[in-house]
Amino acid sequence: MQTLILASSNPNKIREIREILSERYEVKGLADIGCTEEIPETADTIEGNAQLKIRYLVEHYGVDGFSEDTGLEVEALNGAPGVHTARYAGENRDPQANIDLLQQNLAPHSNRKARFKTVMALHLKGQEYLFEGIVDGQISPVQSGAGGFGYDPIFVPDGYDITFAEMDKTIKNKISHRGRALAKLIEFLENYQG
Ligand code: IMP
Repeated sequence: MQTLILASSNPNKIREIREILSERYEVKGLADIGCTEEIPETADTIEGNAQLKIRYLVEHYGVDGFSEDTGLEVEALNGAPGVHTARYAGENRDPQANIDLLQQNLAPHSNRKARFKTVMALHLKGQEYLFEGIVDGQISPVQSGAGGFGYDPIFVPDGYDITFAEMDKTIKNKISHRGRALAKLIEFLENYQG
């Protein structure tokens, strides 16, 4: 089985990506290659942060791999929290505090449209490639479900009437921003002739 290194130490992302790739690839996170530093995410776009993470892996560890960065973009809030999704309510990245702040800021608005966007950056043999995955949906005013992570208890993807946190994980993984970006990356790898 081929090994892919994911430039992330977020256990939720690593778990979801492992679930999706389980039959085809072994996925190693940063801890598996002895990296315990936190990679700075200082870019002002989701793409930029994905690139910072992959470039850190390549520069410090000299290996090929991929990274991902995700943001939740809420239409009525002009795309916020966007690049600040993880730390929306503060540096300690508390998911419940993030949800509470989002509900508070969205309360005056009737438009609850939102989307998750993931950008994956792949570094392979000296070249960098980007893959994007988007899922459109709505922010539910009511929090429900115990699965998933982050904003999952308030995100209802279009075409469903349950949140990501209430959804079977195989369905979330198939339709999610992360699942869609990963499908493009895998298709690229399977056709790669480098
Ligand atoms: P980052 O990509 O590490 O900057 O983190 C993005 C943040 O977005 C995470 O900390 C979560 O709060 C949130 N997030 C990312 N992916 C998901 C998801 O699949 N469901 C819900 N929240 C997510």
